[in-house]
Amino acid sequence: MDDLERSSAIRVTDLIVGFGRQVVLNELCLEVRRGEILGLVGASGGGKSVLMRTIIGLIPRRSGTIEVMGIPLGRADERATQDVATRWGILFQQGALFSSLTVKQNVQFPLRENLQMSPGLMDEIAIAKLEMVGLRAEDGDKFPAELSGGMTKRAALARALALDPAIVFLDEPTSGLDPISAGDFDALIKTLQQTLGLTVFMVTHDLASLNTVCDRVAALADGKIVAIGPMSDLLRSEHPWVKAYFHGKRSQMLQPKVS
Ligand SMILES: Nc1ncnc2c1ncn2[C@@H]1O[C@H](COP(=O)(O)OP(=O)(O)OP(=O)(O)O)[C@@H](O)[C@H]1O
Ligand SMILES: [Mg+2]
Repeated sequence: MDDLERSSAIRVTDLIVGFGRQVVLNELCLEVRRGEILGLVGASGGGKSVLMRTIIGLIPRRSGTIEVMGIPLGRADERATQDVATRWGILFQQGALFSSLTVKQNVQFPLRENLQMSPGLMDEIAIAKLEMVGLRAEDGDKFPAELSGGMTKRAALARALALDPAIVFLDEPTSGLDPISAGDFDALIKTLQQTLGLTVFMVTHDLASLNTVCDRVAALADGKIVAIGPMSDLLRSEHPWVKAYFHGKRSQMLQPKVS
């Protein structure tokens, strides 16, 4: 194993994914380094969620390879692929807490699915995860319908952290939150990265998140990663879509007006 392999959490090579005649990802290559927060931007409908879902094995690929923690997915034996699946946590774009389960039961769901443990231990773990994301133990007894949007995101993050994953996938975790709650969520992600050594793969349109928490940003256009690097590199990119995204009218509105 060379140094590069050791340092990469996810390595996607020449990935092609499509539905019928539509090719969504076209020979896409991407490397996510261990311990980094990588932000993924791209047009709506451009394939960001499809990329995330393909990496975690929910959407089949036509060709290409996907390695997570050095293990090639789908090629390795079933057991190795299953083991790797317990090393990631996922926060889906559509919130996706089970509405008929309490918050605590939602957080315990991956534990039940993957491990044999006593109810007492599962309760302790659920409460620890809720506290880790800034929720109270009492919130664990609420149902998803009784939570605010920000609390829902935190509860979903607690569930994503249930199995102490090495990697978390977050699909637009701050969309729909007010800027202060979004900032709090970003700070939480940063803290988790720093304290747990998490690798974070985050789809986001939130320019503040990209600027403040992401170590690197990748831009998806025309089915490929067309630019990747620190935000300062992306701001200098000559790619037409990347330029339009970061220097278009709406992002200009974020610049303070100097009179
Ligand atoms: N299961 C599916 N079956 C057929 N087409 C799909 C499926 N999932 C996604 N697509 C198509 O793939 C394309 C990319 O969708 P995707 O959800 O990845 O976009 P996105 O970049 O996440 O957009 P957004 O920013 O709006 O969330 C879209 O044209 C979508 O209709
Ligand atoms: Mg999406």
